[in-house]
Amino acid sequence: METVNTVAEVRNLVRQWRKEGKSIGFVPTMGYLHDGHGSLITRARENDKVVVSIFVNPMQFGENEDFSKYPRDLERDCRFCESLGADLVFSPPPSEIYTPGFCSFVDLSALTDRLCGKSRPGHFRGVCTVVTKLFNIVKPDRAYFGEKDAQQLAVIKRMVQDLNIDVEIIGCPIVREPDGLAKSSRNTYLSSKERKAALVLSRAVRHAEALVGDGIIDSDTVVSALYDIIQSEPLARIDYVKAVRCLTMEDTDKIEPQTLIAIAVYIGKTRLIDNLIVR
Ligand code: PAF
Repeated sequence: METVNTVAEVRNLVRQWRKEGKSIGFVPTMGYLHDGHGSLITRARENDKVVVSIFVNPMQFGENEDFSKYPRDLERDCRFCESLGADLVFSPPPSEIYTPGFCSFVDLSALTDRLCGKSRPGHFRGVCTVVTKLFNIVKPDRAYFGEKDAQQLAVIKRMVQDLNIDVEIIGCPIVREPDGLAKSSRNTYLSSKERKAALVLSRAVRHAEALVGDGIIDSDTVVSALYDIIQSEPLARIDYVKAVRCLTMEDTDKIEPQTLIAIAVYIGKTRLIDNLIVR
């Protein structure tokens, strides 16, 4: 496996692979990799070559968010990528991505003003801008994103369609800890008491699954049941619980296939998300 830090090095390698007729799978990450990322890398091996980017993107963090304390461990991440059969890790410094005078952005006029976008203004502008840049650098055939960040996945699918970016976007299922907590690099912020409290998210998701399984299709009924569960946990503070259409993020009164039941909850200072996509 190769590890490079510059755009030029990625381009040289990718150009060579393309000449050899190889297909390229791409997994963009912010590092501190866990089995959720691992599942994306493993899936990306359906391509001839797998590129993983590791870049904590300053543009997608708000002023009072956790950019500076976001966990980082590049050496461990590289070992992890290699063990899963990745071919290239691209871990640029911010100066390689945001060169002096940088002033071009990718912004969607819908989908991004609600759910996580409402609580984190500017977040999706940062995500879309960096993902577009990474797509232009790596030029992958397929790119892999986790369904835990369901809004991000919908936003990127929309962006790729709107801007005719020549890449197939593939969503991969949420990976959970044995006790149900969705894997996230931010779980490392939780104290042991908070870690236990955080299980309220997966409990709520399981409850939503059971209600939908029992044939309850009224969104308000499901959402208010989830509120009750989450509010019963003293360390939890709800950011949102919503039933929306998976691709457009529009509210829906009725739960049907492709409804996303999405939750965002603060456990102490840590904001966690989880969801159920109704199939
Ligand atoms: O999901 C993430 O880790 C990030 O938002 C992404 C897609 C790598 C862009 O920085």
